[in-house]
Order: sequence, then C-alpha cells, then structure tokens
Amino acid sequence: TGEDALAPGRPPAGLTPVLTRYWDEDRSWTLDSYRRHGGYEALPLALGTDPDAVIAAVKDAGLRGRGGAGFSTGTKWSFIPKGDGRPHYLVVNADESEPGTCKDIPLMFATPHALIEGVIIAAYAIRARHAFVYLRGEAVPVLRRLHAAVSEAYDAGYLGRDILGSGYDLELVVHAGAGAYICGEETALLDSLEGRRGQPRLRPPFPAVAGLYACPTVVNNVESIANVPPIIRHGVEWYRSMGTDKSPGFAMFSLSGHVTTPGQYEAPLGITLRELLDLAGGVRAGHRLKFWTPGGSSTPIFTDEHLDIPLDYESVAAAGSMLGTRALQIFDETTCVVRTVLRWTEFYAHESCGKCTPCREGTWWLVQILERLEHGRGTEADLEKLLDISDNILGRAFCALGDGATSPITSSLKYFRDEYLAHFEHGGCPFDPHRATLAA
Ligand code: NAI
Repeated sequence: TGEDALAPGRPPAGLTPVLTRYWDEDRSWTLDSYRRHGGYEALPLALGTDPDAVIAAVKDAGLRGRGGAGFSTGTKWSFIPKGDGRPHYLVVNADESEPGTCKDIPLMFATPHALIEGVIIAAYAIRARHAFVYLRGEAVPVLRRLHAAVSEAYDAGYLGRDILGSGYDLELVVHAGAGAYICGEETALLDSLEGRRGQPRLRPPFPAVAGLYACPTVVNNVESIANVPPIIRHGVEWYRSMGTDKSPGFAMFSLSGHVTTPGQYEAPLGITLRELLDLAGGVRAGHRLKFWTPGGSSTPIFTDEHLDIPLDYESVAAAGSMLGTRALQIFDETTCVVRTVLRWTEFYAHESCGKCTPCREGTWWLVQILERLEHGRGTEADLEKLLDISDNILGRAFCALGDGATSPITSSLKYFRDEYLAHFEHGGCPFDPHRATLAA
C-alpha cells in the first residue's frame, strides 16, 4: 500500500524527502523497490480520471517547472490544443548540464521508475501516445538504468498497449544526446531529437503549439515530471502544505563546493541557505561563505548577505537573482571570484552553438578580457568593457544561453569590483599561491 510520503523514516527537521526518501536503499532503482514505496499507485488513479482533471490537479497544486524557469506545469499542459488532428508528444528534458546542477541525473539513477510513472501520467493528461526522454549524452550509466527500467515497465503492463486495462496506449523512447549544453534548451533539444544539429528555434511558436515534428509538444524537466505521481497520490492540499503560496511544494536543493556534506537536500521551497547549510554541516571547517549561486552558474551570484533569502521563485527574484535549478554552489573565502567567473565564461563560450552573433562573438570576447584580468594584465576600462559586452548580449541573444553567460559577470562586478581591481593592482591573481606575498 506504500508508506506515507510525509513520514519517510524521520528525516532531519526541515527536510521533506519525497523523491529522495529511499535513495540509500539497496537496489532502489528496481520496479520491486519502487512498488514497495507506493510506486505505480498514482497511475490507476490518474487513468481512472478524465485527462483534464489530471491537468487541473497539477495546476491547482501549483507545481512549477523544476528545470529552471519555474513556469506553471499544469498551465503548460493546458496549452496543448485539443482535437486538431495532430499527434501530441511529451518530451522529458533530461539533458541536465548547467554548471552546478546535479539533481536529475541522480534522480534517474536512483529511482528511474519515479520518472517513468510521471511520464505515463503526464502523457495521458496531454493525450500523447508517444513520449521521449532526451538524456544528456555523457550519462551512460543512467542511460542503461533507464533502458532497464523502461523494459521492466513494459513487462509489467505500465507501458505499451492498453495500460492497466484502461484502453490508453503509450510508447516511451529513451534517447541519448551527444553532450551539448545547448541541447538542454527546449527547442534545440527538439531539433536534435528530430535528427538535426541542435540549435534553438525562434519562439513563439512555443513547443506547446509547434514542437516535435511541428506537433503540439510538452517539454518538461525530469524533476517536474517526478513530482506528478506524489501530487496525484497524496493530493493538492498535501502538496500545498509545503512551500509558499506562489511557490508550493518541495524541491531538490543541490549543495556543492565548499560545504561539509555536499549532496541533495529535498526541502520545502522557501527554505534559506542558512537553514540548508545547518543541515549540511556548514561551510567547510575553518572557513566562511564568500559567494554562492542560487540556481546554477546562469543565475546571478549571491554573497553572505543573502543567507536568509527564502529560496522560492519570488524572493530570489526580488533579491536580484533567479531560483533556477537550485544548484547551490558554495564558495569560501579562498576562492578567487575572477577565476571562477572566467571558468564559467569559458564554459559558455565553448557551448555557444554559434547561431547568433551576440552569444557566439560576445562570449569569446568576455573570455579574452577575463583572462587578461585574471592574469593581472587588465585595466579598469576592461571592467566597463565586460559590462558593455554583457549588455549587448543580454536580451539580444537568440536563447537563454547568452543571457545566462552574462549573469556571473554582472553580479560579480556588483559585489566584488574591488577584487577585480586588486588583480591589476597586484599584477596578478591575489589568490595565486605564487603571488601570496603580493596579496599580503
Ligand atoms: P522560459 O521562461 O522562456 O520558458 C519556460 C517554459 O515555459 C518553456 O517550456 C516554454 O515553452 C514555456 N512557455 C513560456 N511561455 C510560454 C507561452 N507563452 N506559451 C507556451 N509555453 C510557454 O525559459 P527557458 O528559456 O525555456 O529556460 C530558461 C531556464 O533554463 C533558466 O531559468 C535556467 O535556470 C534554466 N537552465 C537550466 C539548465 C539545466 O541544466 N537544467 C541549463 C541552462 C538553463
């Protein structure tokens, strides 16, 4: 009958493990294990309901996209036109590649059936008969595990023809990309899935209107889809009892970097970094927090001033950043902010797909300038150039990749301008051990 997800083996106060609650169990990824924990109990409930009622439940629960943007999942599903004769598709964006973001890959590795049950319910709700999971190419062990789990689900009658005798048919295909960050952008992902080079398409039309093979398509993140079975099984009120009014529910917060116990912390939206750090043993011993990302490297950085900002969509935005993927990368006082921003910018320049000029050229120039700044060869005018180039990318690039590339630059200059200046005043990085005397 499944255990109550609200009482998952006495988690530490502050945590609400639902998706992560039995990750530590032996062979957590098997169908047996998933069913022992109430898995596939939501499916007959959903299949016994009108698809529109499933959409309404997800909308009322207030689930917001966990891939970063936080768009209402139920609203996105409701955009799918009804009865226009075209097939509908569900595509799961499992191409997690944002620096610091590391929640979907462990989720699929530990409990692939949580995703598969969510896929079946979501596909049923949007009246799709084909669903795809587009997985990041490098995640080969996850690919094997997903393939095995999909086979188990077919054998058990959860996928294929006449699922659980409901008359509903669904085929699920797992497709591995080739390791390009841009293919996590939903329209580039669709191009890649169609067999073309992954580059973003102009939106609108949004995928809900013209997506895969120009048909109505819902593209949802892995964690968003994995939230659906618990919502159906435990209800809207249960879900809304966690989080805040506008950001309800629980989410995975991934702590990495200079933290005593890095890992996944599943907690209500609205928890603060201070509370999460308490659960994670704090910043590593003997050190203090310098800066952090609330949602991966594409979101403006925060500092120790922001420890008490509630980590929900509205509060983080009001403080000048974005909740993004809740990839909390923690950096202590030993980290050079210029070097960190250079590393991230090199990533964006490397991953820029080249389709639009502001992103292709702009990220290249940002790297050149950051490199000379980091090595003490920059000037104060370079700081203005960084801001000017960022301004020419932001809002002018074809997709969110370019915008994201500017976030660490503009936010680090806002909080750590002195550290940039120190680089050319000292003729190099003050954090470079070979220059320790200069820094002193
Ligand atoms: P977006 O806000 O443009 O769209 C979000 C979703 O809502 C999309 O699925 C879009 O199709 C849908 N949508 C928005 N307006 C719509 C409308 N009027 N009609 C129909 N559908 C509509 O955000 P975008 O560009 O898709 O994603 C940006 C986010 O991705 C960033 O916030 C960033 O945090 C995140 N990100 C995540 C990564 C990861 O590895 N998980 C990597 C890089 C970025």
